[in-house]
Amino acid sequence: PVKVTKICCIGAGYVGGPTCAVIALKCPHITVTIVDLNQARVDAWNSPDFALPIYEPGLVDVVKQARGRNLFFSTDVDKGIQEADLIFVSVNTPTKKTGVGAGFAADLNYVELATRRIAAVATSSKIVVEKSTVPCRTAESMRTILEANSKPGTRFDILSNPEFLAEGTAITDLFSPDRVLIGSLQTPEGKSACQSLGDVYANWVPKDRILTVGLWSSELSKLAANAMLAQRISSINALSAICEATGANIDEVAHAIGFDSRIGPKFLRASVGFGGSCFQKDILNLVYLSESLHLPQVAAYWRQVVEMNEYQKSRFSKTVVDTLFNTITGKHIAVLGFAFKADTGDTRESASISLIRDFLSERAYVTIYDPQVEEAQIWLDLSEACPNTPLENIKKQVTIAHSALEACKQKEAVVIATEWKEFREINWQTVYDDMSKPAFVFDGRLLVDADKLRKIGFKVTTIGRGERV
Ligand code: NAD
Ligand code: UDX
Repeated sequence: PVKVTKICCIGAGYVGGPTCAVIALKCPHITVTIVDLNQARVDAWNSPDFALPIYEPGLVDVVKQARGRNLFFSTDVDKGIQEADLIFVSVNTPTKKTGVGAGFAADLNYVELATRRIAAVATSSKIVVEKSTVPCRTAESMRTILEANSKPGTRFDILSNPEFLAEGTAITDLFSPDRVLIGSLQTPEGKSACQSLGDVYANWVPKDRILTVGLWSSELSKLAANAMLAQRISSINALSAICEATGANIDEVAHAIGFDSRIGPKFLRASVGFGGSCFQKDILNLVYLSESLHLPQVAAYWRQVVEMNEYQKSRFSKTVVDTLFNTITGKHIAVLGFAFKADTGDTRESASISLIRDFLSERAYVTIYDPQVEEAQIWLDLSEACPNTPLENIKKQVTIAHSALEACKQKEAVVIATEWKEFREINWQTVYDDMSKPAFVFDGRLLVDADKLRKIGFKVTTIGRGERV
């Protein structure tokens, strides 16, 4: 097998950045260059004060140790490709917005452009690694493009190496992954490329956690893992609706079923709905794949996971309106949290956006606070969520606050949309004293101690709990 000494990663995003920064940290003998077409992003990765383009606990430390030593960020994609023995393709694969499969299929344009660039500029053999999440058999298309455009004497081996990190815990996930999955063709060359990549991870990952499988299984395993994880959340959220209607308590139900070792306790937290750039996109991708394979029942099964999530979000908005005496027109609501989960500044598909859109359409006034999301991002997301409302009109209804206490001041209701730890720890007595009465709290994340808040005087509504207000 080729001994890898130079790695190039195409795509300096949430996956490419942290993943390859950790490879550089753990493998000082390998030079890692992360390239991206987005100049502003690369500049941020290179910023002298480490104002990195993404917020991820522990990431700055990793970049501080490796940057300039064996970790580099650049916009010179061609040079990065030419110098590397192994290239990760870690570009975005969003859901298609137009054309065939719009709303479901993955947009593979960026993967194809990156692949074509590799073919066009490579002057020596490369191992090309699919890091992006892609539909099953994408590696085949990549191989066809590479082989049709390769120069004499250059060969390309394609691997699939999907990434399982979760945002907010990316660095710990990368330091000790549950598993690293590598898919290859089962040919001698494919297996040899697989070993080259496996040897890179073996610098810090125990060998029994490095799984090697066929290419197509590897590609499908990524979609399958996300679909199964999201399905757990939709299942617990569906049960949360039954709890609210019956007086059962979703925490107790999750605890009770999680004790079954076959079910396990993780990922059973009822919420206002899952968000993030992956779950919805990857399930829709699986739905599209199933439909293309003429498996409509399979497609319908997985589609329901996304539909339940939409239902959970709108159900929560409706609970807010119903509880506030069936109207929120002209009322002032604080929304705590805009990111799709805690410990990230990422807002892609955040449930908070759907809630705020619903509140705005009821003509409420909304004040938002999030510890990590930048103001410009909030305006961008709300503009996209309300395409028929000019931004200046949105700004008449929305204010951005700089602390949770400031956000809650003089409001009629507080909605917790993201499970930031600091929301549990704010001084709820002060919040109460400063609010209009009756003061309502809607906990969409099972975050606060509802009984404690009730003692202060709040009227508390918690997802998945029978007792209301
Ligand atoms: P991202 O949008 O944060 O980053 C992708 C980067 O690729 C962007 O900076 C973009 O400018 C760059 N890019 C696009 N085309 C390029 C090209 N031709 N040449 C150079 N640069 C190019 O996306 P992400 O969140 O890092 O996701 C990347 C992939 O990883 C996706 O397929 C996603 O499904 C998958 N994934 C994401 C996560 C996650 O938690 N975000 C986890 C696992 C897998
Ligand atoms: C997910 C997968 O976990 C990860 O393996 C994959 O590589 C990328 O997609 P991510 O989207 O970053 O990671 O975060 P995750 O922790 O999975 O949370 C996704 C959403 O589900 C968040 O909105 C989170 O708040 C929500 N969630 C999670 C729940 O509502 N309940 C839970 O029990 C767990």
